[in-house]
Amino acid sequence: MSLKFHLIINKTLKLKILICFGTRPEAIKMAPICLALKKENIPFKLCVTAQHREMLDQVLSFFDLVPDYDLNVMQPNQSLNMLSSRILSEMDKIFEKESFNIVLVHGDTTTSALVALSAFHRNCKVAHVEAGLRTYNKLSPFPEELNRQLTGRIADIHFSPTKKAAQNLLNENVEESRVFVTGNTVIDALFITLNRIDNGYTNNAIDHLKTTIDFSKKIVLVTGHRRESFGVGFENLCDSILELSKKEAIEIVYPVHLNPNVQDIVYNRLSVVKNIYLIAPLDYPSFVWLMSRANVIISDSGGIQEEAPSLNVPVLVTRETTERDEGIKAKCSFLVGTNSKKIVKKAYEILDNNTSVKLKNPYGDGKASKKIVKFLNDLKNSI
Ligand code: UD1
Ligand code: UDP
Repeated sequence: MSLKFHLIINKTLKLKILICFGTRPEAIKMAPICLALKKENIPFKLCVTAQHREMLDQVLSFFDLVPDYDLNVMQPNQSLNMLSSRILSEMDKIFEKESFNIVLVHGDTTTSALVALSAFHRNCKVAHVEAGLRTYNKLSPFPEELNRQLTGRIADIHFSPTKKAAQNLLNENVEESRVFVTGNTVIDALFITLNRIDNGYTNNAIDHLKTTIDFSKKIVLVTGHRRESFGVGFENLCDSILELSKKEAIEIVYPVHLNPNVQDIVYNRLSVVKNIYLIAPLDYPSFVWLMSRANVIISDSGGIQEEAPSLNVPVLVTRETTERDEGIKAKCSFLVGTNSKKIVKKAYEILDNNTSVKLKNPYGDGKASKKIVKFLNDLKNSI
């Protein structure tokens, strides 16, 4: 990797790395980097905004990560502005207390954008992991498209998961020497987890799933949380799940996101149907275990679109747009929007034909965190 970047680090300082994230998917995708830094004995500090609480803590615990700073900002049904202001003011206290010269942020959450902004205000360089994803529609996903564009404008270094994401940045006139294609670290997290499961890891949640779900039936796994789908979109999703549940040969498992805008509607509409299992968000290894047993996944999740091809499971993407069209092109995933008829038709097609994905995962090979850590190590040694 080019080391031109070292020229813009203040040479009088030692490299002081801060890793910062706040939500479940960021934690899953940053954990492999933290583990690889530890393995290489490269010092760093970990700060969690805790934009998520329970869903974040599940991940920290599985990957054995103990934050140096926990901003504990989550509030029930938080507004984006209040969340943003809490992150900005709490991050300022961290930068006041300790000087870092590079902070790694991930993806497109409010945490990523506001931590990047707070670092910029404090003259700290920003490295953006999962850089360059774009729909160029600032309302879809909302507010994530703008979050990642803002983070991209602030960032000094961009670790892009795919060539397409890197090209988006080059098209936006980001200097080529600052963009590195690494693959997505979520595949590293997935492989670490599968390896532990293969080596005997289990837990109560997995044991419980084994005894409650009839795995001799076809398994439909559902998740959903996008703000742009609150209201009508989620009503339509519930309609489609109710329709699918009419077939007795199907079991539908739905770990429901803790956002109250999701919880209220999903529990109201889907609670009493016998082959629909509404459950709390699963810890990461249990969710990976369940994904690997699913016949189809219906989801608006970014991370799941990336992981599922490695588990051979097709994904129906319940969104109008996706920044992850590598999977759509490779026919690993199918963009169905929130039209209930379309969801049901495509789900039946996959279940009836036993469709499974047998392609190289377009999102990564499990080596992304190694590449990112090599970059940081080279940078450390060069100043
Ligand atoms: C956030 C991210 C989204 C990401 C998603 C992953 C933003 C704007 N959104 O959306 O990009 O895809 O996380 O899941 O950054 N809650 C809990 N406990 C938890 C987590 C959430 O109770 O552990 C509830 C709280 O009431 C919270 C609400 O969910 O206020 C919303 O959380 P928030 O992080 O604002 O939005 P998400 O919909 O989770
Ligand atoms: N996931 C999990 N438990 C669940 C549902 C999802 O651990 O009950 C994992 C999933 O494997 C993926 C990540 O959480 O790695 C995706 O998070 P989410 O869908 O909340 O966010 P997004 O990826 O859309 O930003």
